[in-house]
This record gives sequence, structure tokens and C-alpha cells, in this order.
Amino acid sequence: MHKSISILYDEHRSISAVLSALKSLTDMARKPDLRPRFEVFHAMIYYIDAFPERMHHPKEDKFLFALLLQRDPSARALVEDLQAEHRAGAQLVRDLEQALFAFEQTWPRGADRFAATVEAYSQFHWEHMRKEERQLLPLAERALGAADWAEVDAAFAGNDDPIADLREKDFDSLYQRIVCLAPAPIGLGEPWNRTGAPPLGGRRAPGA
Ligand SMILES: [Fe+2]
Ligand SMILES: [Fe+2]
Repeated sequence: MHKSISILYDEHRSISAVLSALKSLTDMARKPDLRPRFEVFHAMIYYIDAFPERMHHPKEDKFLFALLLQRDPSARALVEDLQAEHRAGAQLVRDLEQALFAFEQTWPRGADRFAATVEAYSQFHWEHMRKEERQLLPLAERALGAADWAEVDAAFAGNDDPIADLREKDFDSLYQRIVCLAPAPIGLGEPWNRTGAPPLGGRRAPGA
């Protein structure tokens, strides 16, 4: 398997893990007697904005999609579809941020709207990753030559970007932070407080 494809699968798995955890925590947050620690939602949505939206998708657009279009013009409809999804994803992240802000400010109200935006983003992104893996990658494997793959591999490994290694470490530490903040059984964090009082080190949203 080309190095870039294995990196792409790894990145999809990391994104899926955060989306699964986000969905599970959002289900927990619908219980009105269990005040969420909102920091974990902020960290997850920051990760979604910073990693898939600002790093993973641009890398796909600039290298993998661009070279596939040059080598196989019949892939145009699929590539344009995926590029449009990259643009749509950015708006869905804004919707997530706004719904989280409203939920935190008005808790326990706002849970349904927040859950709906989480569901919309998760479904959207899972479909998107599936389309890339099942439709785009097989086309790319047939159409790209050895020199093309060398270019895509270098780009996906971050070899053309002097700060990529630093950014990868930042994402690793952000991922660890999410694991530490999320309560069991999803992560290693403190359980959410059933009385509605913030846990030690937590903070109460204004008006709560
Ligand atoms: Fe993508
Ligand atoms: Fe992707």
C-alpha cells in the first residue's frame, strides 16, 4: 500500500474515533440531571475544525484530487462532489460551534439542537470518508503513476511542510487531552456531576 493511502486511512480512523466519542458524549449530555463538562466538547470541536477541516481535506484537494483529475478526467464528477463536501463541512462545523455555545449558555436547554448538529456532522463525515475510500482511492490507484505517488506520499507525510511534524504532535496532544477529559467509559476523565454542580476544576456556565 502507498504510504499516503495508509496515512489517509489512519487519519480517517482518528477522525472516526473522535466522532464516535462525540456522539456518545452527546447522548450522555441529553440527561438533564447530568451537567456535562463542556471543555471536552470544546476540545473535540476544536480538533474537528483543526484536523479534518484545516489539514486533512486541504491535503486531499491539493495533491490527491488534483493529480487524479490530471490523469483521469472521467473522475471529475466524483472529485467535484468531494470538493463540494469539503466546503460544506466547514459550514457544518460552524453550526456545531454555534449549537455548543447555545447549549453551554442555556443548559439543560439546547441539548436537542446540539445533538442534531452532531448527528448531521457525523453522518456527513462518515459518508464522505466512505466515498473517498470506496470510490476515489480505487480510481487513484489505477490512474496515478509512480512519480505521482511519490509526490502524494511526500505531501501526506508532511515532507514539504517544515512545521508539519510540530503540528502532528499538537494533534496528538490534543487527542490525548480529549481522552483525559472524556468521562469513563469513553475516556479517562472524571464522571459528570449528577447534582448539577461543576466538578472540581470545572466551571459553571453563566446563568446555570
Ligand atoms: Fe475529504
Ligand atoms: Fe479524507
